[in-house]
Amino acid sequence: MTIKIGKLLKKPGFGAVVRGLVDGLKEGVRIEDQDGDLLLAAGEVVSGAVYPVMVGDELCGRVKGAPEVEAIARLLAYEAGREIERRGLVTETLHKYKEITLLYDLVEKVASCLDRREVARLVIEQARRVIEFDRMSLWVLGREEGGLELLAAHGQAAEAGETATMRSDQGVVGSVLASGQAEIVNDVAADSRFVAGAARIGSLMCAPLKTSEAIIGVSCLSSEQPVSYKAEDLKLFSTLTYQAAVAIENASLYEQLQEAFYTTVYTLAETIEKRDPYTGNHTKRVMEYSLAIGNTLGLGQQDLTRLQLAAVLHDVGKIGVRDNVLLKEGPLTAEEFAQIKQHSAYGAEIVCNIKKMKDIIPGVRHHHERFDGRGYPDGLAGEEIDLIARIIAVADTFDAMITDRPYRKGLDIDTAFAELRKNAGGQFDPRVVEAFFATDIMEAYYSAGSRRRIMPGE
Ligand SMILES: [Fe+2]
Repeated sequence: MTIKIGKLLKKPGFGAVVRGLVDGLKEGVRIEDQDGDLLLAAGEVVSGAVYPVMVGDELCGRVKGAPEVEAIARLLAYEAGREIERRGLVTETLHKYKEITLLYDLVEKVASCLDRREVARLVIEQARRVIEFDRMSLWVLGREEGGLELLAAHGQAAEAGETATMRSDQGVVGSVLASGQAEIVNDVAADSRFVAGAARIGSLMCAPLKTSEAIIGVSCLSSEQPVSYKAEDLKLFSTLTYQAAVAIENASLYEQLQEAFYTTVYTLAETIEKRDPYTGNHTKRVMEYSLAIGNTLGLGQQDLTRLQLAAVLHDVGKIGVRDNVLLKEGPLTAEEFAQIKQHSAYGAEIVCNIKKMKDIIPGVRHHHERFDGRGYPDGLAGEEIDLIARIIAVADTFDAMITDRPYRKGLDIDTAFAELRKNAGGQFDPRVVEAFFATDIMEAYYSAGSRRRIMPGE
C-alpha cells in the first residue's frame, strides 16, 4: 500500500505540525515525495544530508537539510505508518461489512428456497457480487460411487448442462473432497494435480459443500487469467459454500419428502383403480391430459401441482362405493347411479383429512359439475366451479369416452372430439375445451394422424 506524503501534509492538523517544525529550523529544508517532486521547502538548503522517509521497506519520500531535519523524516514515516494501519482497518471493516451483507442476503433468499438447483444458482449470483471469476459451478455427490452431479454453473461449465458429471476422486476437487478443506490454486498450470481440460484455467478456488454431518459436494470457481486469490477471498467463498451446503441439504430432504408423498398418492390412486380392471391407466391419462391443458392455459407451478394431485386423486372416493355397484356390468338403476355419484363428495372428505391436500378439495369434489350448472354434487355453474375441476372434467370425460368397457366399445377419437366440441358451454367450460385442442398431445395426434399417439403411457 503506497502512502503519498503530499496527502499527509494536506491533512490540516498534521500539516500544521510539520509546517511549525519547518518554521522553527535555523537552516533550510526540502521535503520531496518518492519521485523527487517538491512538496514543501523553507529557506535554502546549502548543505546537509538526505533523510529517507521509510515505511517498512517502502520509500515514501525524502527530507533534505541539516541533521535536525531527520526528526521531520521520522515524524513523516510514523504518520505514514499510522495511515497504513488506518486504511487496513477500513479495508477490513469494509470487507467484513460486505461479507455480512452478502451472507444476510443469501440466507434470506435461500431460506424459502426448496429447490437444490435454485439454491445453487442463487449462491453463484451472490458470489459474483464479491469475488472475481469467469466460471463457477456447484456439484453434489451423485448416486454412483466416485461421481459428482452438476447443480448449477456460470461460465463455460454451464454449457455442459444440468446432466453433467465429474469424477470426485481426481484433481484439486478430489483433494478438497478428501481433506474437507477449501483450497486456493493461484497457478493452476504449475499444480501437479492439474488435470487435462483445465488448460484454460489460470487460478481457482475450490471448497467442500460441508454440512455439520457430511461433505455433500464441492464448489469451484476459476478465472482464465492467473489472479492472486487471497485468504480472505477463500474465507468468503468457504462461508458462502457452507451456507449453500446447508440450504442444498434442506432442499434435498424436502425433495425426498415430496417424492415419498407423491409415491404414496400414486400408489393409493393405483390401488383404487385396480378394483376396476377395465379402466387400465385411466388415472395416468387423466393426469397427463389435465397437465397438458393446464400448461396450455398458462397455469403457474403451484396450480399445476394442485392440478396434478387432484387429477390423480379425482376418483379416490370410489373407495366408498360398493363393488357390486362400482363393477356392475350393465345399466345401473337410479339408486345405483346415485351411489356412484356419491364418489366425488366421498373423495373430498378423504382428502380434507390431509393438511397438504386442502387445496385440491375443490378439484376432487367438483370434477363432475357441469358448466351449465346441471352437474353434481353441488350444481355449481360457470366460474363457480374451480378451474382445476373444469379441467379434470374435460380430461376425465374424454378418456372415459374413448376407453372400451366390458358393456360398450369406446368411441373413436374423432367422435369423441365432436362430443367435446358439442358440449363446450354445456357440460364443459368452452375455454378448457379450446385449450385441450391446443395442447401438445393434440398437435402430436394431428400430425401423426394416429390414435395411438394420444394415449400417454402407451
Ligand atoms: Fe369421477
